[in-house]
Amino acid sequence: MALLDIIVAPDPRLKRKASTVERVDAATAKLMADMLETMYDAPGVGLAAPQIGVLKRIIVVDPARDDAPPAPMMMANPEIIWSSEETKLHEEGCLSLPDEYEPVTRPDRIKVRYVDEHNEIRTIDADGLLAVIIQHEMDHLDGVLFVDHISGLKRNMILRRLTKQKKMSTSGKRHAVESA
Ligand code: NI
Repeated sequence: MALLDIIVAPDPRLKRKASTVERVDAATAKLMADMLETMYDAPGVGLAAPQIGVLKRIIVVDPARDDAPPAPMMMANPEIIWSSEETKLHEEGCLSLPDEYEPVTRPDRIKVRYVDEHNEIRTIDADGLLAVIIQHEMDHLDGVLFVDHISGLKRNMILRRLTKQKKMSTSGKRHAVESA
């Protein structure tokens, strides 16, 4: 197991489209486990491979809160095969945009097909926080950040702030309660 470095925005590596995973082999399963460890360490509730500089369609999520037992999920090539017309506004954060939170509107319920860590195809129904996290992480696979869903004015403010922080120091302590 290994902790991986998380790329912080603005960074061109976060804006690229990730490629399909051919097969979840032992190396991919190890990468998934390392991503999960990195996510828990951050701490965060989701992480996508492009955030650690790997341009592959892999995400890991764990919506379990506080004292709840861990509920990790590792997904390759996730696809939303159905989403509800009903939407929900939820405050999102991101490990690549430390300490920034803004409400984002997304479909409330989704059905997702993916390949798990054993190379098995699975389909799940997700709602609530899990649906938010999966959609947020899947965006990363197409080079989309949560700030791309909010007004340009707010987005520019956040990116300017992050650029300034990058210039000043890289040693800031993170307070990401619910970052993905
Ligand atoms: Ni994120």
